Amino acid sequence: MANQQLALFERHDSGSSVEELAHPSGYVGLQAFHKYWGKKPLEPLLFLIDHLSEPGGLVVDPFVGSGSSGVAATRLHRKFIGIDLNPVAVRLSTLLVSPPPVDDIKIAFRQLETIAKSPILATYHCPLIGRAITHYLWEGNKLRDMWVMGRGTGRREVAPSELDRTLAANYEGYESTRIRKPRFFTNSRINAVASMTLTDVFTGRAVHNIDVLLSAIDAVPARSRPAMLLALTAAAGQMSKMVFAITGRGKKEGRSQSNTEVGSWVIGFWRPNVHFEVNVWNCLEIRVRKLIRALEELEEQERVSVGNIDAVLTGKAQCALVTGDALAVLDVIPDGSADLVLTDPPHSDREPYLELSEIWNCILGADVDFASEVVVSNAKERHKTRTEYVVRMRKLLDQGSRKLTPTGSLALMFNARDKSSWEVVQELEGATQSGLTYLGCFPLRYSATSVVQDNRKGALKTDYVLVYSRSTSVIPQLTGIGGWNTSMPRLRE
Ligand SMILES: C[S@@+](CC[C@H](N)C(=O)[O-])C[C@H]1O[C@@H](n2cnc3c(N)ncnc32)[C@H](O)[C@@H]1O
Repeated sequence: MANQQLALFERHDSGSSVEELAHPSGYVGLQAFHKYWGKKPLEPLLFLIDHLSEPGGLVVDPFVGSGSSGVAATRLHRKFIGIDLNPVAVRLSTLLVSPPPVDDIKIAFRQLETIAKSPILATYHCPLIGRAITHYLWEGNKLRDMWVMGRGTGRREVAPSELDRTLAANYEGYESTRIRKPRFFTNSRINAVASMTLTDVFTGRAVHNIDVLLSAIDAVPARSRPAMLLALTAAAGQMSKMVFAITGRGKKEGRSQSNTEVGSWVIGFWRPNVHFEVNVWNCLEIRVRKLIRALEELEEQERVSVGNIDAVLTGKAQCALVTGDALAVLDVIPDGSADLVLTDPPHSDREPYLELSEIWNCILGADVDFASEVVVSNAKERHKTRTEYVVRMRKLLDQGSRKLTPTGSLALMFNARDKSSWEVVQELEGATQSGLTYLGCFPLRYSATSVVQDNRKGALKTDYVLVYSRSTSVIPQLTGIGGWNTSMPRLRE
């Protein structure tokens, strides 16, 4: 699988084939290094960019997310402008599009190790065994069990003593000096409550150790800091109180507590009563090693120059990745300049991206513009209703389509359960400003191993790629795609 993906990255002169489109290889390497919701497979992006734009042409994605479209466009020698309101998304996109040299990251990690490893491990030190605990099992506020786990060394269970309890208690109520205060909204869908604070999500000891890491990251060379910060955010879920204990199997079979396994943080803010506190240093180390492995696979790549929008428009940089409201940022791009607008906007109420990313953005110290998000959210306080979503989407699609050259195309990845969201998409055809013709659509296939993003009853399992163009001429390659259909997908409600 990894080799297949590598081949995809290395082939610089063509997109993917119709067969590859039908069987995407899944997220591996750098695309798998950090969690982000709604990640798109590379194959359809490569295919669309290959057939709907020319090398040297401009591709724009106003909702770039984790940067998949930027990776695909730059690999195929297009200029690329990606926009996202979510600060962590833009930093992740920048890493994916223009990865740092692996040797820089190895050096920076050694520096981090020298500065931060001992002070962090001291906070987990168990006098009885003379070494740091890797996993604490908590039941509410009661420390139930402690483990030392290592690669290939199995698991050693240690009964907690008063000293271990006191060590944990030393950090209770610890206030971060480095992490921005989070802003949560009450949203039952993601188990969030507006009154939640950092200490609801992390133990005081974990917050203290994240502070230690943030200070240590300040000391590594500036060029390696973004990747290290992203590794820290990527590990943050596993550093939290949201790591549940898998106990069901043991119970059912009448086994003892020792059959408990470590779960992993998946999505949202569910804080189980029985949960793990995982050693923060180990969580970071696992992530950085994953990053290093991914970078080693990519070593042969050409470097992509990243600048601002102006630099891309004047040919001084190949790519710009901008944090901001797409509606405002698109204004800066001249009308009639993009060969392809290729985008995957938030699909109505499927993922409240900014709410879900709040911990990451707090760790990055990044401010978040919740008000401008295009989304439908259950958090009443945000007033992100379907009506507001439709108004924003209409403006954005209108604005985006005005950026197209007279023969440019728009490829929209989309699905929604409500009629009003679909109407916005349907309106695109024939709208006088856009001058777009609907060419057709095809189902977006994910790899069998991709995580299903929305587990609710009645949740959507398929997405569509809807293709519009200002040119009315048929693009023969599109008609060869499995499931290609010139009608609009049937509305589901
Ligand atoms: C479906 S995701 C994109 C995922 C992306 N295709 C990928 O592969 O990772 C939609 C993105 O739109 C962003 N977004 C929401 N409102 C926005 C706005 N007003 N301006 C720019 N981006 C916005 C969200 O932060 C989210 O990252």
